[in-house]
Amino acid sequence: MNWDETGPHTGGLSDERSADRLVAAGADGEDTAVEAALRPKDLEEFVGQEKVRAQLDLVLKAARARGATADHVLLSGAPGLGKTTLSMIIAAEMNAPIRITSGPAIQHAGDLAAILSSLQEGEVLFLDEIHRMSRPAEEMLYMAMEDFRVDVIVGKGPGATAIPLELPPFTLVGATTRAGLLPPPLRDRFGFTGHMEFYAPRELERVVHRSAGLLDVAIDTDGAAEIAGRSRGTPRIANRLLRRVRDYAQVRADGRIDREIAAAALKVYEVDERGLDRLDRAVLEALLKLFGGGPVGLSTLAVAVGEERETVEEVAEPFLVREGLLARTPRGRVATPAAWGHLGLVPPQHAAKGQQGLFGA
Ligand SMILES: Nc1ncnc2c1ncn2[C@@H]1O[C@H](COP(=O)(O)OP(=O)(O)OP(=O)(O)O)[C@@H](O)[C@H]1O
Ligand SMILES: [Mg+2]
Repeated sequence: MNWDETGPHTGGLSDERSADRLVAAGADGEDTAVEAALRPKDLEEFVGQEKVRAQLDLVLKAARARGATADHVLLSGAPGLGKTTLSMIIAAEMNAPIRITSGPAIQHAGDLAAILSSLQEGEVLFLDEIHRMSRPAEEMLYMAMEDFRVDVIVGKGPGATAIPLELPPFTLVGATTRAGLLPPPLRDRFGFTGHMEFYAPRELERVVHRSAGLLDVAIDTDGAAEIAGRSRGTPRIANRLLRRVRDYAQVRADGRIDREIAAAALKVYEVDERGLDRLDRAVLEALLKLFGGGPVGLSTLAVAVGEERETVEEVAEPFLVREGLLARTPRGRVATPAAWGHLGLVPPQHAAKGQQGLFGA
């Protein structure tokens, strides 16, 4: 199976493979169904991302004051951080309609021409996964973004002619999880680029409270904090964990969520205090218990946990690395001192010494 053909809402192998994980950052079917109801509708309601929010606020306010269409906006960041949500907010703040499409949906330049030529003045065109657009479409987009014009090619071979087509001014909002994959000429044509960061636990707490309110779930401060702390800095995961904890609270208790209920529920779902799930912990445990903390090669580690190399590398490791629990070194995978602490294990003396150079301690 070609993992790159997985439809508009997956970012490749890691999202696809991890779709059944409670802590996957990519959207699953249930997410897609409920997310619309949980999406903040304006910048005011949008939690966190202070920098992007303040910058975007200026861009949009200035455009509104000039009575002009806003500059093109590029939003980059990991899955589930709010790119689609922000694009809808941009349209709402500009009081403009929004058209939604994605890079993989635009196979031919003609597909793009059809969309562009049917845009209304001031409309927001949301192009999700813009890094996955085809090359010819990309080149057409350059001209459309800069000059609000496209050349429609009619006919084939030597007789082909380019018919220029004027477009109404529009705002392109591009979203990408892989900003590095965008060709520079495309990146340069955006007037504003917002980099979305992972959220702080405090911010996720606000997300959880807000969503609980919308879902009509009673939750106290500690309960929200417990869920926020396990959500990997990602609002989508926070919302998903909240729904699972709600299930538990309804079935096993009176429906109200406090710290105890949240912790007990997430124990059932095998999401630990730091947001690690069964796979993450299996990788860490193998690294620590079987290989003394490493260094050990990726293939060996994968065999030890009974998973594919790619699954370990792309699904489990990125978060472990981000959390400072695992390091990828030229000699292999190495557990950090924090990893031993997290699993409640004591590093063997010789291993600790051998790894000193690796962590500068
Ligand atoms: N700042 C925020 N405040 C409140 N809720 C948020 C925020 N950001 C995201 N969410 C919630 O998280 C969910 C996922 O957000 P969204 O779909 O915008 O992520 P995305 O960045 O587009 O992800 P993907 O890369 O998978 O497309 C939405 O349901 C939204 O309600
Ligand atoms: Mg999205």
